[in-house]
Amino acid sequence: MRITLAMLLALALLAFPAAAQDRSVGGRLAVRWCMACHVVEPNQSTATDNAPSFRAIAARPSTTAASLDRYLAVEHTLMPDFLLSSQERNALVAYILSLR
Ligand code: HEC
Repeated sequence: MRITLAMLLALALLAFPAAAQDRSVGGRLAVRWCMACHVVEPNQSTATDNAPSFRAIAARPSTTAASLDRYLAVEHTLMPDFLLSSQERNALVAYILSLR
């Protein structure tokens, strides 16, 4: 799992220009890790009821890169062993904020 993800990140970093890098890596991570519970893409219809969609999270005035990073770094309710590297967090944060 770790290795596959690292490879995915490396590939994405090679394949995309710098500005779009974090966002597109984050989008892939989101589809892989977050989609089971969150609506992470505009055209995705279903997920669980109790997790807010990434778009809804992004739309909140209180949501900032720092607040998302803190949330993902510290804990995630209902998700034991949810360990993200700071690179992965940055990518996910960039992706979520790109949905604004
Ligand atoms: C097992 C289901 C599940 C998965 C998988 C999951 N989440 Fe969540 N997430 C939730 C639930 C439920 C909530 C709302 C309750 C809470 O705050 O824990 C939530 C809340 C959040 C919030 C905070 C929203 C707020 O209220 O500010 C963020 C940000 C978030 N998730 C990001 C992610 C990211 C990024 C991933 C993938 C790396 C992910 N989640 C994967 C279930 C999940």
